[in-house]
Amino acid sequence: MPIEKIVVLEDDALQRKNLESLLRYRRYDVAAVTSIAAAEEMLGRDQFDLLLADVNLPDGSGIDLMKRLQSKPEHPLVVIMTAFNSIEAAVDCMRDGAFHCLVKPFSAAQLETILKKAEDYTQLLKVNSYFSAGEQNDDRYMLIGDSPGMVRLRQTIDQVAKADATVLIQGESGTGKELVARAVYSQSPRAGAAFIRVNCAAVPENLIESEFFGHKRGAFTGAFQDREGRFALANHGTILLDEISEVSFQVQAKLLRVLQEQEFERVGDTRTLKVDVRVIATTNRNMEESIERREFRADLYYRLNVVPIYVPPLRERMEDVPVLAEAFRKRFARQHGKEVVGVSDSCLNVLMSHRWPGNVRELQNVIERAVIMCDKSAWLEPSHLGFGRRTDAPVASQISQATSIPTVYAAPAASISSYNTVFKAPDSPLTAANGIATLEEIEKRHILAALEHTKGNRTRAAELLQISIRTLRNKLNEYGYKTLGAAQPGQE
Ligand SMILES: Nc1ncnc2c1ncn2[C@@H]1O[C@H](COP(=O)(O)OP(=O)(O)OP(=O)(O)O)[C@@H](O)[C@H]1O
Ligand SMILES: [Mg+2]
Repeated sequence: MPIEKIVVLEDDALQRKNLESLLRYRRYDVAAVTSIAAAEEMLGRDQFDLLLADVNLPDGSGIDLMKRLQSKPEHPLVVIMTAFNSIEAAVDCMRDGAFHCLVKPFSAAQLETILKKAEDYTQLLKVNSYFSAGEQNDDRYMLIGDSPGMVRLRQTIDQVAKADATVLIQGESGTGKELVARAVYSQSPRAGAAFIRVNCAAVPENLIESEFFGHKRGAFTGAFQDREGRFALANHGTILLDEISEVSFQVQAKLLRVLQEQEFERVGDTRTLKVDVRVIATTNRNMEESIERREFRADLYYRLNVVPIYVPPLRERMEDVPVLAEAFRKRFARQHGKEVVGVSDSCLNVLMSHRWPGNVRELQNVIERAVIMCDKSAWLEPSHLGFGRRTDAPVASQISQATSIPTVYAAPAASISSYNTVFKAPDSPLTAANGIATLEEIEKRHILAALEHTKGNRTRAAELLQISIRTLRNKLNEYGYKTLGAAQPGQE
C-alpha cells in the first residue's frame, strides 16, 4: 500500500469522525486535526502521504496551507474538500497543486476512487524514484553512527542480510529498528524485489488477518471485492511486520503457519496459496515478558527469533550523538531552506548530557526544532533546543516526540494529583472561550493522566482505562504521541 499515513484536516466534528472511521476501516494510519496550526505541527513531526483538507478552517484556508506545502521538497498529496460545486473552483484548486478536489457532500465510494488514484500515483512515483535514484541510497534510510554499538550492529546486519533467515529486531522505541530492517533488506539477495511493510499496531484488530492474507469478496461486511494481502504482495520479496507484538494471539497462530509452511488462505477462501517471503519483524516490547503474560506465543517468538538483532538505546552509544546531530542539522537546514552554521560546543554539551529516552527519533526532532528556531546563518545554541520546560515533566520526557508537545500537556506533575486538574483544563488552547473543555479534550487529558499514573506504561494505562492497547495507541497516534511510554523495555 503506497499510501499509509493520512492527515484529515476538518473542523466539523461529525464529518471528521466519519472520515476518520472510514479511513481507519480501510487500514490507513490516520491523524485527525481541526486547525491549520495543528495540521502544520503534525506534518512537521512525521511524514504523511496524503492530506485531506477542508477549505474554511477556524485559523485559515486549507488551500493556503496546500500552497505553503508545495514549496517544501517533500510534501503529501493534497485532496481538498470543498463545498463550492463549481468547475472554476475545482480548476483553481488543481492549478494550485491539489491532487484532487472533492465536492461536499461526497460518498464513501467517491472518496475511495480518489484514494485508489492516489495509491496508483504514489506507487508510480515510488517505482520511478526507485529506478532513477535507488530508494536505498536515500539518505533518510542511512544508518548514521560509528560507536562500537553501531559497528557491531552493522556487522550483524551484513551477516544476517545474506542468510535469508527470519529476523527479529528488538530495541526501544526510536532506536532505528525500521532503518535496520531496511538495511537488512537492501543488502539481501532480495533487494531488487518488493519490500512491503505492515504496521501491525495501526491496522484495526478485525482487519489484520485480511491485511496479511487478503480476502475474498463477501468474506465480511465491507469486503466488496477480492483483495490481495500483504504476504501475496511481498511474494519473492521481503515483508516487514512492524510492531509484531501488537498482533492478537489468534492471528499469531496464522503467522506461525506462513512462517513454517510458507502457505496461507485468504479470508473467506478455501484455496491454499503458496508464498516465498522473507520475514523481518520488529518490536519494542520485552518479548519474554509478553510470553509470560500469555500475550505472545512462545512458538512464534522462537520461529521469528532465528536471527535476533538488538538495537541499543542511544544513551548506550552517546558517541553517536555529535555525528547524528550534525547529520540532522544538515538535513533539516536543507529541508527548511535555512542556513545554519553548525552545532555550538555548549549546545553539544547539553545534547551529551541528555538521556534520550526517545532515542534517535527524539534527537532528530530536537534538532529539527532547533533548526527552525535558529536565526539565519547562526549556530545551534542550547536555547534553541527547548529543553528547559521539558526536563521537569517526567511523563512528557518519555515521549519520544517530545519536542512538538504543547506545553500544556507537559506541564502537569507526575503525581496523580494532576489528575484532578484534568477536567478543569485551565489554560488549554483547546478550551473554548466559555471555559468548558470539549469532550475530545477531556478524553485526551484523561488518557494522558492515566499514562502519567502508570509512568508511561501503555499496557497498564489501557487496563485502567478499560480500552484495548490498540485503541490507546490509535488515540496517542492521533495526538501525535506515537511512541509514548515505550522508552523502557518491558514498560509497555
Ligand atoms: N542510526 C540512525 N541514523 C540516522 N537516523 C536514524 C538512526 N536511527 C534512527 N534514525 C531515525 O530516527 C527515527 C526513528 O527510527 P525508526 O522509525 O527506525 O525507529 P524504531 O526503532 O522503529 O521506533 P518505533 O519502535 O517507535 O517504531 C527515524 O526517522 C529514523 O530515520
Ligand atoms: Mg518502528
